[in-house]
Amino acid sequence: MLNYRQDKPKKKILCIGASPRKGGNSDAILDSIQKGIARANIESNSILLRNFSISSCIGCERCRKEKECGGVDDDMQKIYPLIIQSSGLVLISPAHNYNVSALMKIFIDRLYRFYNFNNDHPRGWSSQLMDQNRKAVAVAIGEQLNKEDLGFTLNGMVWPLQALGYEVAAKEQIYGKFQRGIVKKDLSLMKYFEELGFKFAKLL
Ligand SMILES: Cc1cc2nc3c(=O)[nH]c(=O)nc-3n(C[C@H](O)[C@H](O)[C@H](O)COP(=O)(O)O)c2cc1C
Repeated sequence: MLNYRQDKPKKKILCIGASPRKGGNSDAILDSIQKGIARANIESNSILLRNFSISSCIGCERCRKEKECGGVDDDMQKIYPLIIQSSGLVLISPAHNYNVSALMKIFIDRLYRFYNFNNDHPRGWSSQLMDQNRKAVAVAIGEQLNKEDLGFTLNGMVWPLQALGYEVAAKEQIYGKFQRGIVKKDLSLMKYFEELGFKFAKLL
């Protein structure tokens, strides 16, 4: 079994796509980012959350003692080792009602097991993933044309990433994209994300 205290992360990037829509805009952006990562000769894995069975955190708090998620035995158990091993993390979510998709929210809540809490009130905390030179990218995509209409989507990923100890190297918000896969027609945007993947991989 992997032990986060012993296994330092490797120069690998885990990409998490949180759209329930197959072949949609998040998938296309994720593909472009991975293309750039591959060009930089860095290994990456991609997880499309809709293909995994992941339940909500049930708040059992077992992780406070056990330092792993003992309360819910589902596909998240396959993803934890990838998170621990990879120094890079890319999160991509469509805006759904001014926020991240439900898939992304569930995923982020299940990262709760990585926190260390003390018994003060309000509780102080640290993260088991901090101080390990972990870096992340967050991408939000929506139909509307202004920042307000994408609401919390980007910060819904950026703030938890920072709390977990990631340096967020890039935060991107894409506007005005509605139809499934429409971003693929925007070749300069696809190229932009390929370059972003390349530069991010080089940063690690
Ligand atoms: C349930 C739902 C809620 C949505 N809410 C918003 C929203 O609050 N703001 C926005 O700009 N777009 C919203 N959209 C549009 C999507 O964010 C947009 O179509 C995006 O490109 C979808 O990405 P995908 O193809 O990766 O799923 C919503 C779409 C759905 C299905």
